[in-house]
Amino acid sequence: MSSYRIVGAKRLHGDVNISGSKNAVLGILAAAMMLDGPCKIENVPDIVDVHAMLEICETLGAKIKNCGDGVYEIDPTNINTFEATHPKVKNIRASYYLLGALLTRFKKATMYMPGGCNFGNRPIDLHLKGFQKMGAKGTKATDIRDGIIRIVADELRGAHIFLDVVSVGATINLMLAATKANGMTIIENAAKEPHIVDVANFLNSMGANIKGAGTDTIRIKGVPVLAGGFSYSVIPDQIEAGTYMIAAAVTRGDVTIHNLIPKHMEPLTVKMLEMGFNIEQGDDWIRVSVDDDVELEPTNFKTRPYPGFPTDLQPQATVLLCLANGMSRMHENVWDNRFQYVPELQSMGASIQVVDKVALVNGPVKFCGASVTALDLRAGAAMVLAGLAADGVTTIYQANRIDRGYEKILEKLRGIGAEIEHSDEDMEHVTVDDE
Ligand code: UD1
Repeated sequence: MSSYRIVGAKRLHGDVNISGSKNAVLGILAAAMMLDGPCKIENVPDIVDVHAMLEICETLGAKIKNCGDGVYEIDPTNINTFEATHPKVKNIRASYYLLGALLTRFKKATMYMPGGCNFGNRPIDLHLKGFQKMGAKGTKATDIRDGIIRIVADELRGAHIFLDVVSVGATINLMLAATKANGMTIIENAAKEPHIVDVANFLNSMGANIKGAGTDTIRIKGVPVLAGGFSYSVIPDQIEAGTYMIAAAVTRGDVTIHNLIPKHMEPLTVKMLEMGFNIEQGDDWIRVSVDDDVELEPTNFKTRPYPGFPTDLQPQATVLLCLANGMSRMHENVWDNRFQYVPELQSMGASIQVVDKVALVNGPVKFCGASVTALDLRAGAAMVLAGLAADGVTTIYQANRIDRGYEKILEKLRGIGAEIEHSDEDMEHVTVDDE
């Protein structure tokens, strides 16, 4: 367990670079397990979840070479098992992508149920129902025994699948399973997140035939061979980029965030403009600043699947709302229980009342340093943001959770003027969480 210590109330200024997308690369690594030869993946972020996924892939038999600078050579030619039962499967949510990948490779897959859930009920029924429509057995809830899923298919067939809830995970998993299936698969009401498009582009680089990723209808025509021998660069992380935009904003700083895709940031940009921030942007950068005399306007956010406002930026944006002049509302529409961090923010001075799926945020407040806990990855990012804005010293316990999704966060924040370091102070209790 590690902790962070922040001396707050310092305006951030300068330039920061965004790393590769966590949620894209986790899908891409699983997809690579279906290849019939090696490939090279670039812009892989150096974060705990990626290392866990790489370790799981190695135990399946994949050869993985770290070439440095975020470049990995992956050779899955010798994968010899359909059983993903490494203990880390239970730690990361995205291990569920190995179901689709192993099903494609072996027509069967055995796996622990993926990671624990800390912001509500996190079923994978849509993934399993989709596999069933494609011909797999073992997909009913009653088939899952001792926390292990065992699915098998004589043949994977193209199918017409309507997702009754928009699900990122189910969309990607079903794309993986459909890639080599016999015939055409159509996924309707598909998720449209940037990382869905990135995984589809990676699959197409392997020789898959996927059209429509990024819209709500995806068509996948099964192909017989997925060939290696190519390089692929992962897209920038939308959530990391948004977190640094908010870091600039909550410290009333002036920061240019590089290596992002401005289009992906629109759901946040539009709200920050409404609140009174200055936003300038170019092809792959956004500059966030605010004039000295501006009083921030309150606003309302509603989390929705892309192109709506991402739930994974909800805790961070709530910190921003605490600084606005008046009452703002944060509606959480994706997860049942994603306001657990609110008491931690209250201990730093926030005035927030949670009513069902809405947080009523009263501002402006001046955060004051306190000892708080990173209850999950993005809740932890919110604590960092509040600590950067606060007067005095903030200690964030269980900060290792933040390392799961933010590459070199201390180095990057120090590079733009933050006073943040690892601290020896710690707490005893440990729980598992994931995205
Ligand atoms: C992914 C992200 C996570 C993000 C979430 C929503 C990864 C590794 N994680 O999680 O960071 O918060 O998207 O953007 O990429 N649902 C069902 N049945 C299913 C699957 C989902 O009912 O089989 C529901 C969920 O309960 C939730 C909603 O669909 O209410 C969205 O979940 P989903 O998009 O699947 O999230 P994840 O893929 O788990």
